[in-house]
Amino acid sequence: MSVASSALLSVDSAPPQPFRIVPFDGAVGAEVLGLDLSQPLNGDDFQRLHRAHLDHAVLVMRDQRITPEQHIAFSRRFGPLQIHVLKQFLLEQHPEILIVSNIVEDGRNLGLGDAGKFWHSDLSYKLLPSLGSMLHAQELPSEGGDTLFADMHKAWDAVPDALRRVVKGREAAHSYTARYAEDRFTGNWRPTLTAEQLAQVQEVIHPVVRTHPETGRQALFVSEGFTTRIIGLPEDESRDVLQQLYALSVLEQNVYRHRWQPHDLVFWDNRSLIHLAAGCPAHLRRKLYRTTIQGDAPF
Ligand code: OGA
Ligand code: MN
Repeated sequence: MSVASSALLSVDSAPPQPFRIVPFDGAVGAEVLGLDLSQPLNGDDFQRLHRAHLDHAVLVMRDQRITPEQHIAFSRRFGPLQIHVLKQFLLEQHPEILIVSNIVEDGRNLGLGDAGKFWHSDLSYKLLPSLGSMLHAQELPSEGGDTLFADMHKAWDAVPDALRRVVKGREAAHSYTARYAEDRFTGNWRPTLTAEQLAQVQEVIHPVVRTHPETGRQALFVSEGFTTRIIGLPEDESRDVLQQLYALSVLEQNVYRHRWQPHDLVFWDNRSLIHLAAGCPAHLRRKLYRTTIQGDAPF
C-alpha cells in the first residue's frame, strides 16, 4: 500500500494486527507481541489492548519505532492527556510529552531527572489523577534504570482486618510539594516552582481505598511519594498507619521489575499500580518520553 493511501485509511478500516498478549509469570503485567504502533490500529484491536491493560495493569510493547506524534495519538485514544506542571521539561512543540531524563546539556537539565524516586501513582496530587501513563524509551543506560510496578489491588488484599477497620472509609491528603524539595532528592533536578505552578498543585484529598472505575476492583490509593496524612487520625497514628500500608504495597511477590530495552513502550494503569524508578549511575545517560492520560476523580 502506498504511503498516501495508508495515511487515508481510517483507523476503523485498518487491517487487523495479529498481536498476542502474554502475561508475565509474576503478579502483574503482560507483554504484547506482534504489535506495531507505527501502523494504524483498528477499533477492535484497540479494544483488545484496552481490555489487556485492564486485565494486566502494565503492558510492555517492545521495539516500537514511533514518533512523538504517534506516541501522543495512541495515548489520546485512552483519554485526554495531562500537561505536567514542570513546563521546562516538556518536549518542544509537544507539551503532551514530559521528558524524563538525567541528562544535562550545556548546564541545562534536559528533563525531570529524578522522576519516580519514591513509590507513587502519577498525578495523585491532582483532583483528577492519571488513568495511566506511557513511557517510551529514547536513550538507556548500560546498567540500572529499571522501573518497578506494584499491584495495589493485591496490596489492599494483604491489609489485615484490624488495619482495614482503621482506614476503611477514610481519606488521605496528597501533595506534590510536600516532598518536592526534600534533601532526599539529591542533585539539582527540582526547579523552584513559580506562583503559577504552585497554584496548579494545591493539596487534594482522595479515598485511601479506591474503586477502579472500569473493573470495579478495590485498590489501595496511598503512596510515599505524594500522600502526606490520613484525614481524621492523630498525626503519629496517621504516620504509623501509612508506613504499614506502604510496606504492604510493595511485597516482592506483587512487584514487576521492568528492564528497559531500546524503543520499549510501557503503558501502566495508575489506578491499579504504584511505581518506582530504581535509578542508575548518575554519569550514564537515560531519557524517556512520558504521556499521561487523565482519569476520573477517585471514589
Ligand atoms: C514517571 C516515572 C520512572 C522511571 O515517568 O512517571 O515515575 O523509571 N518514571 O523513569
Ligand atoms: Mn511516575
